[in-house]
Amino acid sequence: MHKILVLHGPNLHALGEREPSIYGRVTLAEIDQRLKDLAPELGCEVECRQSNHEGVLIDAVYASQPRPSGILINPGALTHTSLALRDALAAVPMPAVEVHLSNPATREPVRQRSLISGAVLGVVQGFGPDSYLLGLRALAGHLAGSSSHG
Ligand code: DQA
Repeated sequence: MHKILVLHGPNLHALGEREPSIYGRVTLAEIDQRLKDLAPELGCEVECRQSNHEGVLIDAVYASQPRPSGILINPGALTHTSLALRDALAAVPMPAVEVHLSNPATREPVRQRSLISGAVLGVVQGFGPDSYLLGLRALAGHLAGSSSHG
């Protein structure tokens, strides 16, 4: 059973009320529940955390115990600003997958660069809450592949 740490960045606590025309009406609690429901069939369990603070997210990357097998992260606006969060993801051995509800590539120019993407296995974006579920499937598939290859 792989433990997956799910990290949600700034402002994602407000999903459901926050700019619903962009992010929809599904709450963060509902997304976490969908991940928890999907995890067992993928051989995973998820631990979900949200913070509005960059340092708290960085500490979580390093400090979660027992150490997770992988990280699923929506860094929110830190995607576009945080070299420190990228460095944390690059520093730890666990693979990470980056997800976004919206498709930042179709939005304002400032959102079109991710500082995080260079430190992750891959990115799933633009599918609303399904981005998280697709990202979990991708991460679980990667972990299953790595363990079967020894
Ligand atoms: C987001 C996209 C970011 O640009 C934005 O700052 C967010 C949410 C998304 O999930 O679409 O907070 O990460």
